[in-house]
Amino acid sequence: MKRQLQSTPVLSSEITPKAVYFSRRDFIKAAGVTAGSLALASCAPSATQTALETRAAPIETAADELGDSVTPYNDITNYNNFYEFSTDKEAVAPLAASFTTKPWSVEVSGLVNKPKTYALEDLLKKFTQEERIYRLRCVEAWSMVVPWTGFTLASLLNEVEPSADAKYVRFESVYRPDEMKGQNSPFYVWPYQEGLRLDEAMHDLTLLATGLYGEPLPNQDGAPIRLVVPWKYGFKSIKSIVKIELTDKEPSTLWNTAAPNEYGFYSNVNPAVPHPRWSQATERRIGEFSRRPTLPFNGYAEQVASLYQGMDLSVYY
Ligand code: MTE
Repeated sequence: MKRQLQSTPVLSSEITPKAVYFSRRDFIKAAGVTAGSLALASCAPSATQTALETRAAPIETAADELGDSVTPYNDITNYNNFYEFSTDKEAVAPLAASFTTKPWSVEVSGLVNKPKTYALEDLLKKFTQEERIYRLRCVEAWSMVVPWTGFTLASLLNEVEPSADAKYVRFESVYRPDEMKGQNSPFYVWPYQEGLRLDEAMHDLTLLATGLYGEPLPNQDGAPIRLVVPWKYGFKSIKSIVKIELTDKEPSTLWNTAAPNEYGFYSNVNPAVPHPRWSQATERRIGEFSRRPTLPFNGYAEQVASLYQGMDLSVYY
């Protein structure tokens, strides 16, 4: 099937212009949201609530710009990679259920003119929350389509003003081994850390997500704030961020430190470059039986391929 790419991310409300009013109660029923999530919902930022209440159609009938339907809420929230809690994808949600996400702040520091520590509430108030449907392609060759809410990382970075010598952005997850038993594992260097080149970080597709399915981010998906970089393998999309630091050197990352020959710094989705232990040519979309071909840059080549012009992507994997 020929697929048409659009140059900008598409809001679900634009894809399904049917004027179906979708009330909050219907949404909660349809999405199978639990009583616990309902309690969270009452803390949702007002911008998110507005988006939800004026939505043109139920989120679960929405699709991305390739026409791929969003993955059911239950799959997105019960099949997770979050090694701080467990390496078993189905064990993460229950183990993360009592994780403390309040209060929360994010320190933005390093090579910036205006370093600042933001309370989460301030980030939600200050930066316009939008909904974006992105494909998430895990390095383990499964994928999902997720309706995120959040704001661009660029809007935050512009606010702190990267200085002229800033070239990379380093991200750090929270470190709380008493609450996150997986952080006692000696196999990884904690806290989880990730990095982007500054131009990747400033790209309009790069999102700081604070919600999904119109609700605050569930703990297992990286509450209360995580990165989403849709053209890279899922492990770049670091969860539960407490620190963002601008640097002049390529940052270390958890996966590159653990296995440099398997996980590079760039980690752009690339069907032509196999992982040393398996092919990356196809993927299994959660909820589907047959495999589908993996698209270069996860289908976002039109928007991001120019960032890597002149680079040999089998060397910079
Ligand atoms: N962030 C932290 N802090 N810890 C993790 O273990 N796993 C990564 C990424 N971010 C991970 C993380 C991996 S491998 C993937 S595929 C995605 O989160 C999964 O996101 P999801 O569980 O919301 O689908």
